[in-house]
Amino acid sequence: MASLRFFVCLFLFCASSLKLVRSCSLPKNHVALFILGDSLFDPGNNNYINTIARANYWPYGETFFKYPSGRFSDGRLIPDFIAEHANLPLIPPYLQPGNHQFTYGVNFASAGAGALAETNQGLVIDLKTQLSYFKKVEKLLRQKLGNAEAKTLLSKAVYLISIGANDYISPLSTNSSVFQFFSKEEYVGMVIGNLTDTIKEIYKKGGRKFGFQNLGPLGCAPFMKALVPGNTGSCFEAAIELAKLHNAAQSKALQELEIKLVEFKYARHDFNISATERLNNPEKYGFKEANIACCGSGPYRGILSCGGKRGVTEYELCSDQICFQYSQQSHMSDKANKQISELMWSGTPNVTGPYNLKALFEA
Ligand SMILES: *[C@@H]1O[C@H](CO)[C@@H](O)[C@H](O)[C@H]1NC(C)=O
Ligand SMILES: *[C@@H]1O[C@H](CO)[C@@H](O)[C@H](O)[C@H]1NC(C)=O
Ligand SMILES: *[C@@H]1O[C@H](CO)[C@@H](O)[C@H](O)[C@H]1NC(C)=O
Ligand SMILES: *[C@@H]1O[C@H](CO)[C@@H](O)[C@H](O)[C@H]1NC(C)=O
Repeated sequence: MASLRFFVCLFLFCASSLKLVRSCSLPKNHVALFILGDSLFDPGNNNYINTIARANYWPYGETFFKYPSGRFSDGRLIPDFIAEHANLPLIPPYLQPGNHQFTYGVNFASAGAGALAETNQGLVIDLKTQLSYFKKVEKLLRQKLGNAEAKTLLSKAVYLISIGANDYISPLSTNSSVFQFFSKEEYVGMVIGNLTDTIKEIYKKGGRKFGFQNLGPLGCAPFMKALVPGNTGSCFEAAIELAKLHNAAQSKALQELEIKLVEFKYARHDFNISATERLNNPEKYGFKEANIACCGSGPYRGILSCGGKRGVTEYELCSDQICFQYSQQSHMSDKANKQISELMWSGTPNVTGPYNLKALFEA
């Protein structure tokens, strides 16, 4: 929080001295952070669209912000920790009203979003729309800073993207017929194809440094296990298989982009490794519970009822918040997000590579 206070002071100081306004908006060595993706990264964009995919009610937010900001967690999300590591202020949601500066970056992520426009259509800001918002910001930055300075900002910036989980969760949990029309490989190919297109478009606008994570053991998340008939504790096999295909295809696509696009650099965190490790050895990482969500109802508290606003009004909340998962899916607790962020920031190549985020921010 010290860095946050520092920026608030800096802002006040600059506002009182017009001459310094320009240098204030672009302090030396600052690297902007732009974020796209889903609920793992959404700091509250969905509060400003018409959707049920929201977390702007209690008990979300209770341990850190002390108000329900819209984040699907009891506290901070990964981009909040990354911003702190990078000495940036908290990166605000793009749709939050107000006069955005954008020079520190902005967050476009939307809970429920997928790489495919069809995923939770009408309830989310899909990846293409997030990209179109980024292009608006890019234009504004050029107008404000001039082409050369905007180009420098955009090429030094880091672009964090979390996308894909909902493209698999959504059809599997609704029994959609999509897998009668596409093989699993074809479907994964479309998800990765749309992610790749997005990366290329950001690259065209000057983006060079990207951060990703792969998918964790999706099929073993409380929400997915609760869909398995009989609630035997087994994982949802189809989700495991799709996540595996996705991770292999993502890895390959990023390696290809690195060859094709000059100066393209990326950090990929193996969330499958770090999440599996914590699911198997919760105590080692300071969690009392890894396989059951903290907030929800039904088997493994896997039913999406945290906060009681989704049809089911009753829900359970663990008392001490020392769990890996906060609610359903792969929504993690503040404590888990902190640990994963540290691995993304400074992890060794066996968990985050070929670069880690620290190296990208310093590059
Ligand atoms: C999906 O369909 C199968 C067979 O038609 C059924 O057994 C299963 O309960 C359905 N699952 C959901 C989540 O609706
Ligand atoms: C992107 O997704 C759409 C479906 O929303 C699909 O038709 C298209 O082929 C995908 N693009 C790529 C490059 O795979
Ligand atoms: C996760 O890692 C384990 C162990 O290496 C592997 O067996 C599994 O296929 C991986 N799952 C995914 C979704 O990548
Ligand atoms: C990765 O490497 C580091 C240091 O070499 C080691 O401490 C850590 O246990 C390794 N992690 C995994 C998941 O293999």
